[in-house]
Order: sequence, then C-alpha cells, then structure tokens
Amino acid sequence: MRNSIQKKLFITYGVAIIIGFAILALSLLRIFDQYFIENRKELLHEQGRKVAREAATVLYLGNPNSRSLISDLQVLDKFLDAHIWVVNNEGIIVAVSGSNEERLLGRQIKSEKLDSLTKGDSIEARGNFDGMLGESSLTVGYPVFVNNRFSGGVLVHASLFEIQKNFKEIYRLTLWAILISVAIAYGILYIQIRRISNPLREISGAAKVIAGGEFHKRLSINTGDEIEELGNSFNNMAESLEKIEENRRNLIANISHDLRSPMTSIRGFIEGIIDGTITEDKRGHYLNIVLDESNRLIKITNELLELGNMQQGRIEINKEPLELNEAIRRKLIAYEKGITEKKLDVVFSMFEEKTLVLSDRGLLERVLSNLMDNAVKFTPEKGSIEIRTSEKEGRIEVEITNTGDSISSDELNRVWERFHKGDASRGIYKGGYGLGLAIVKEIISQLEENIWVSGGEDSVKFTFTIKKA
Ligand SMILES: Nc1ncnc2c1ncn2[C@@H]1O[C@H](COP(=O)(O)OP(=O)(O)OP(=O)(O)O)[C@@H](O)[C@H]1O
Ligand SMILES: [Mg+2]
Repeated sequence: MRNSIQKKLFITYGVAIIIGFAILALSLLRIFDQYFIENRKELLHEQGRKVAREAATVLYLGNPNSRSLISDLQVLDKFLDAHIWVVNNEGIIVAVSGSNEERLLGRQIKSEKLDSLTKGDSIEARGNFDGMLGESSLTVGYPVFVNNRFSGGVLVHASLFEIQKNFKEIYRLTLWAILISVAIAYGILYIQIRRISNPLREISGAAKVIAGGEFHKRLSINTGDEIEELGNSFNNMAESLEKIEENRRNLIANISHDLRSPMTSIRGFIEGIIDGTITEDKRGHYLNIVLDESNRLIKITNELLELGNMQQGRIEINKEPLELNEAIRRKLIAYEKGITEKKLDVVFSMFEEKTLVLSDRGLLERVLSNLMDNAVKFTPEKGSIEIRTSEKEGRIEVEITNTGDSISSDELNRVWERFHKGDASRGIYKGGYGLGLAIVKEIISQLEENIWVSGGEDSVKFTFTIKKA
C-alpha cells in the first residue's frame, strides 16, 4: 500500500478517533475522581465538625486522654475508615484514634497548618501530611474554639488509596468500554474506507486495461453514490472508445477494399496493353476505363483528405448573403442530363421569389450537389424529385424529396457514416464511395446548421436549414 487513499484516510480518521476517545477517557476519569473525592470530603467535613464540637470540652478541660473521647474517635475511625487526630492550641497531637498512631502523640504539626486553624479556617490537604502519614491521604482539619479562644483542632485523614480502590472497578469498566468503542469505530472506518478505495482501484485497473487497447472492459460498481456515477461515466467513455476503435477498423478495411478494386483493374488493363493481350484497336477503349478508374481514385483520396481537414476544423468559411433560389436553379440545370435520361419529374416550389440567406457559397454548393447527385442517382426511372423551401423560426428549410423504395429507419440513421452505402448502390451504382453524405453532414455542422433525413412509404426526404440574411 503506497501512499494510497486508504492509508491516508485510515491515519487521519484513526488519529481523530484516538484523540477523541482519549479526551473522553481523561475527562471521564477526572469526573469520577472528583466525584468520589468530593463525596468523601463532604463526609469527612461533616464528621470533622462533629468531632471538633466533642473535642472542645475535652480540650477546654485539658484532659486529652478522656476515655469517652478516645472511644468515640475509635468508633469514627472504623465507621469513616479514617484516622483522627486531636491537636492542642500549640499544634501538638494530644489524641489519636488508632493504636498504631500512638507514636505520633506529642509531635507538632507544621506551623502553616496551625496558622490556618488559629485563624479559624478549616484545612483541606492531599498527600502524606508533611511526612507524618505513611500513605497518601485526604485530610480535613477543623479548628476548635472555646469561649472564642483558639484551643486546638481536629484532623481527619482518609487514605486516598482506600478511596481510589473503590472506583478502580469503574475505571476498569470505563477503559474497557472505550477500548471496545475504539475497536468498533476502527472496524467501521476500515469498511467505509474500503468501500471508497476498492472501486477506485478497480477503475484505475480498468483504465490501464483500456489504455492497453482492450476496449471491451467494463466496470460494475453498485455503491449508489458518486463513485458509482464515476463508474458509469467511465463505462460510457469505454463504450465511445470502443465505437471509435470499431469505426477506425471499418474505415481502414473500407478504404483498402475501395482502393484495391480500381487499382487491380488498372493494373490488369495496363498489363494487357503491354503484353499485347489487348489488341491495338481496343486500346483506346481500355485506356479510357483506366482514366475513369484513376479519376475515381483521385476523387476518393481528395474527398477523404477534405473530410479529414474539415473534421480537424481546417476549413475556411466565408459567410455572405446569397440568393438561395438562384443557387438551386443552377444545380437543377447542372443535373439536367441525368434528370432527362431517367425521365424524372422535378418540381421546385419556393415560398418566395427571392430568398436571401447567409452562407458560404462554395460549401452550400457542395451540399446541394451531393444531395442532388444522390436524388438523381437513387430515384428509379420515371420517379419524381421535389425541392421545397420554407421559413421556420427565422431560418430557411430546404427539403429535397425523391421517390424510391422505402428505407428502414435503422438504415436511414447510418447514411451519414463514411463508406456507408445502401444495398442498392452497391450493385447498380458502383460509382459512389459512400462519402457524399458524410461530407454534407460535416459541412452542415461547420456552418452551424442542421440536416436530417426521414423516410416515407416510397420516398426519402433530406431537410437542412440555412440562416436568413
Ligand atoms: N436520395 C436518396 N435516396 C435513397 N437513398 C439514398 C439517398 N441519398 C443517400 N442514400 C443512401 O445513402 C447512402 C450513402 O449516401 P452517400 O451520398 O454518402 O454515398 P453514395 O452516394 O453512395 O456515394 P458518393 O456520394 O460518395 O458518391 C447511399 O449509398 C444510399 O444507399
Ligand atoms: Mg452521394
């Protein structure tokens, strides 16, 4: 795993989770600590005050060894689980609650503690009470005043260890709960991260496969989110690439096929002329065929080159105001020969006498030529051609309709492809290469106009738009 997304997310979120839980753990522990210690302190204060009251008389009478006081202290020691000391007005310990503390009798407490008591303040301390206690304890101290005169104090010590022992179990449970939560959070994180990174890795793998030329590769990602969208876009891209690749293959196959047959016949006739198989009186005839075939070859290479240039946008467009009806009439005249030969019935209905349009003269002429050429070529003998102009939404529409066999809509969609020739034109009209409409489509799109084809029962209609001048 290099510097993968998975690793990055895992580290970032992992650190966030750990920090979050650590803060939670620390705060919980602090709250527990405070709660237990506070609770305990309150109890100590309460008892301290009581003992202080009781100790007052004893201290006043100067009889620290009073039986009743000592036995009271001992009961409290048991009950509170705390040690109690009574000090006199000089801070000297005069009574203790437990027998193993008797060694402390007669020792003096630190003067700062005594000062607080003298002033009438209570004491609160944590630790081993200036080295006088064997273990860390919580201490609460109360001064004793008799007749407004400071006469000593009571100190209650509770072992912190004893206090903490009680909530060790709670500590343990809390820590376990936190550890388990961290583990679960990490587990969920891991699953989520894999849900993101696995499909990404799959996409990247598929991209490599496609880059290697295998365009059939598809993804199936069902995450129901943006990654699935990405996967779908990827599949669409792969499909387009596959189609482009297929077109490219077909194109090469078509070009090779369409170039080979004229070249083979040219070679055959020239060989025949050279080796004398073709007699001198027939040479002229065959040389004319060779010339025709050469012209056809020049036409297809020129057209392919032109189409390539147009598709790369290397075509000059000079739009100028033109008279459309005039241009159409001139085309009709140009195709008059074919029209009369096939005894075609031609109708031209214009919606106004003069129609000024804004277009490129040469390109518009190419469009009209190709469409007229097709119409004349594909209309059966004694059929009819109708050219009609009309105005729609600020544009001129030119329709060229001719009779003929009905064409399936699937077939109609393909007429724009390079080298696409209908079955009919393969047999009878060998002249074409199926490039005419591809060029028309390209020109129309460069002129930013529209062209479409529709088929009727026994007719075909091509319609294109031109901007009005
Ligand atoms: N007016 C039409 N009527 C019926 N079929 C048509 C018509 N125009 C085009 N087609 C069909 O569309 C195909 C493609 O037309 P396109 O003009 O691109 O090629 P072509 O005329 O066969 O060859 P080229 O134009 O290169 O000489 C034709 O072969 C034909 O099958
Ligand atoms: Mg054509």
